[in-house]
Order: sequence, then C-alpha cells, then structure tokens
Amino acid sequence: MKGVLICGGTGSRLRPLTNVFNKSLLPVYHRPLILYPLEIMQKAGIKQVIVITGTEHIDQITRFLGSGSRYGCRCTYRVQEDPKGIAQALGMAEEFAAGDSVCAILGDNVFFDDLSPSIKSFQNGGHVFLKEVPDPKRFGVVEVDGTLVKSVEEKPLQPKSNLAQTGCYLYDNRCFDVIKNLKPSPRGELEITDVTRWYLDQKELGYTVLNDEWVDAGTFESLFKASALVRNKEKLIVDEVKNEALKQLTMNN
Ligand code: DAU
Repeated sequence: MKGVLICGGTGSRLRPLTNVFNKSLLPVYHRPLILYPLEIMQKAGIKQVIVITGTEHIDQITRFLGSGSRYGCRCTYRVQEDPKGIAQALGMAEEFAAGDSVCAILGDNVFFDDLSPSIKSFQNGGHVFLKEVPDPKRFGVVEVDGTLVKSVEEKPLQPKSNLAQTGCYLYDNRCFDVIKNLKPSPRGELEITDVTRWYLDQKELGYTVLNDEWVDAGTFESLFKASALVRNKEKLIVDEVKNEALKQLTMNN
C-alpha cells in the first residue's frame, strides 16, 4: 500500500495564517499539522508517500519533509496547479501508486485513534473511517445499518446520520479509473465522496467508527482544539513518565 498526503487547496478559512504558510505546516501544539497524518502512515508501515500540494507552497513542504528519511518514509511530491477537488488531487498519484492500493489522508486531519489495524488488514474495495459529530452538514455524511453502508453524501442539507466521513480513505487501485470518470459536482470539484460512493455501489465499502477524538483542523476553532487535545495527551504522557520515575525512586529508598 502507498500513502497519499493531500495538502493542496487554498486554506482560505485560515487567512491570514495561510497567506504565507501552507495549512499543513501550521503548528498543532508542538509539531506541524502534516506530521500527524504522516505518523498514521508510519505506524501502519507505509514507507512510500506522495505529497500533493499547490504551486505556492511546494517549496516549503519539500524543505520541511525532504526525502522523508527523518520520518521513516520516502517522500515524492506532485503539484496540483489548479485545485479542483480532493479526488483530483488523489488522481495525481496514479503513476506513483503503480497498481497498488492507497491510503489517502487529508493534510489537515488529526486522528487520536490508532488506525493501523484497519490499514494493515485492508485488502481490496474501499474503507472509510467515520466519526459521530454534532454538525454533520459540514462533512461527507455516511449512513450505516449494521455492517452495511447505506448511503454517502457530501455536505447534505438534511444529513441522514451524524456520522462524518473523516479524511482518511483506503481504496484499491480501481479508484484511479473511478476518478477518471467522475463529473465535477455543483461546486465544480471532483468529490472524494463520489469515489467512496462508487465502492458503496459495488457493495465493497467497509468502515470503522472512531472512538477517540478526530479534528478537521481547517478553521481557527478546530486548529485550536487540535492543539489543546494534543497538549493534554502529551501532558498525560509526561505525567505518567514522571510518576513512574517517582515510584522507582521511592521503591529504591
Ligand atoms: O475533513 C473531512 C472532510 O474533508 C470530509 O468529511 C469531506 O467529505 C471532504 O470533502 C472534505 O471536506 P472539506 O470541506 O474539509 O474539504 P477541504 O476543501 O477543506 O479540503 C480538505 C483538504 O484537502 C485540505 O487540506 C486541502 C486539500 N485539498 C482540497 C482541495 C479542494 C487539496 O489538496 N486539493 C483540492 O483541490
């Protein structure tokens, strides 16, 4: 399986923070946003990653990630000159995928669950990761019934469930043919949700519902929330290490 990090787009909802910086290089507590989706790939054992980004920020991203060796992977880059949708960005990874399946993650998504069991066990078809949210209208919305996915809609006015399709997608290599046949949506984009729907129509779509937090850090509020959640998690780890050290010390005395 190959990794596709989708980091293009304009980041318009985060201006002026994104006037100079790519959204995925903005800080989430102590690390740039892009390292969170990259870490998911790393944990799942994905070694080859392509980063898709816009013309204006490609230099920053390549300077930051470089060859990828510092992060345990090999990075390749492609420029999406005229961003016309997440599916268009994914379509640019076809040559790189070279017949393999893909794990595509949006560069502004921060996951707190461990996705690696689902990624490692993926074989074919499509697989999405869902999260219960209070405001489903903002997302792709998935309706499920037991193990069956019943529908998937991009930002519906009347959501059929409160399960958002998060920004991590596992697809087999047929996704590239699907993308070639997609028509732009009313907002003029090739929608990733239409790729997911194709797998649903083939009855080959699996899903995992996330238990822990998930943040689409594309707004000031959500970027701040991601930082706060990471800070709490880091603090818990530091406290645990401190407590363990203290315990050892008292046991030795
Ligand atoms: O975060 C999850 C949601 O992401 C899903 O629930 C939706 O189904 C999906 O469409 C997407 O919705 P957003 O409104 O959050 O998409 P946005 O336009 O913000 O793009 C998400 C990321 O993809 C962002 O980091 C920029 C990148 N992108 C976007 C477009 C449109 C590209 O690299 N190229 C593009 O052409």
